[in-house]
Amino acid sequence: MRVLSIASECAPLVKTGGLADVAGALPAALRAEGIEMRTLLPGYPAVMAALEPGAVQVMAEDTLFGGAARVLAGRAGGLDLFVIDAPHLYMREGSIYLGADGNDWSDNPQRFAALSLLAARIGAEGVTLDGHGWQPDLLHCHDWQAGFVPDYLAQMGGRCATVLTIHNIAFQGLTGHHMIEQLGLPRSRFHAEGFEYYGQLSALKAGLMRADRLTTVSPTYAAELMRPEFGMGLDGVMRARRRDLSGILNGIDESAWNPASDPHIAETYRHPSGKTANRDALRAELGLPRASGPLCCVVSRLTEQKGLDLLLDALPALLERGGQLALLGSGDRGLEDAFREAAREDGVAVRIGYDEALSHRLIAGADAILVPSRFEPCGLTQLYGLRYGTIPLVALTGGLADTVINASPAALDRGVATGLQFHPVSADPLAVALGRLCDLYAEADVWAQMQANAMSQPVGWASSARAYAALYRDATAAA
Ligand code: ADP
Ligand code: GLC
Repeated sequence: MRVLSIASECAPLVKTGGLADVAGALPAALRAEGIEMRTLLPGYPAVMAALEPGAVQVMAEDTLFGGAARVLAGRAGGLDLFVIDAPHLYMREGSIYLGADGNDWSDNPQRFAALSLLAARIGAEGVTLDGHGWQPDLLHCHDWQAGFVPDYLAQMGGRCATVLTIHNIAFQGLTGHHMIEQLGLPRSRFHAEGFEYYGQLSALKAGLMRADRLTTVSPTYAAELMRPEFGMGLDGVMRARRRDLSGILNGIDESAWNPASDPHIAETYRHPSGKTANRDALRAELGLPRASGPLCCVVSRLTEQKGLDLLLDALPALLERGGQLALLGSGDRGLEDAFREAAREDGVAVRIGYDEALSHRLIAGADAILVPSRFEPCGLTQLYGLRYGTIPLVALTGGLADTVINASPAALDRGVATGLQFHPVSADPLAVALGRLCDLYAEADVWAQMQANAMSQPVGWASSARAYAALYRDATAAA
């Protein structure tokens, strides 16, 4: 089976969050299931620069939203790609989503409608590649940036199946309805059962209404999406499409995140005792003294979603027990400043920025990783934590609920706990959980058992790749 995956970011080429990790990992994971996946990406500077020589043009448009566009087929970053070479849309410095003023690029509707439209064209017409036809059986759309794919496909009379994965329902791709004609969408679909959302145009809703199947990145988030507290205004749509929705957990790239071979860390290890050298090196790097409590880390975007304001409030509960915090993150200015301020305390080290190598050193060196998210569709850093024997302390929500076994009395009794969960997601329960973390850390054999459990938990793609393959087969059989 051939699948075209459509994503606005893809590791290792261009990444702002977990979506890129997942889009980058799926092709290899699915190859093991006999699925040939290619990924369609916008030709951002980083993507064009990485394209290996020999890329060929497989499609061209004289004019697409104000300039010429062509689709190239080639390889980059170990991936088989189709890349949209449209300099007027994608060739610009800075963030892929935001201009220098911190706001969305004003032409984001056109930039990602172009991605969706060309994906639909490949789905409807196929392309000629190395002298042969390449026709996908299924289009796998990720998030709102690919939300209009099913509508464009229907307009073109294309017949291949469509799956839309929701990585985060908070981002919906809303724009004014005056854009309908400009984006080449049918006004006949501008109603509550189509892509209309309170008088605006919603790219995510378009896909939610019309894709053959919907998935999200954990079973718990799939259930949460049907509730007003989590559905961000689309819970009614999710309830209506309940039968077509499934939750498939993300895996992690087990070669990039492997403590036994990680090139970024001070000393590789196969056993939790190997963390000691990494912890010492990390403390030296961050200027943290030795301490009696656990060294906790955070690697995160700094946004409302991630609940790190709660951590600022709960922090004394960790520090007064001799624990420490090392945080790497960037995002909201207010949170960045608040954490810089917090770093004046003894036992707190903060690095504002994005740093792949430091993220590995933190996860290898820390005793625990904190993920106090208000909502979390899946979350990847708790999975890295498990693989590195770095105990996750997480909010009981979304994928965090599905991937961590809370150190309840029953789980401790059976010797199966891998981490801690707290609920409801507010500062006091988090403070209590930090206290429990310190208690468990003080019991060396309990802690060692949890680390061993964590490191042996499967966090790769094997079972999720099987689930996607089964879903693709179902969707294509029904289409
Ligand atoms: P989200 O996609 O909501 O940001 P995930 O946990 O799914 O959350 O994925 C975040 C990804 O981005 C992980 O691979 C994480 O390691 C990485 N990441 C986030 N912030 C940083 C940072 N400041 N430096 C390095 N990597 C980061
Ligand atoms: C989103 C979610 C995160 C998830 C990632 C990849 O960014 O916030 O929870 O892990 O997508 O699916």
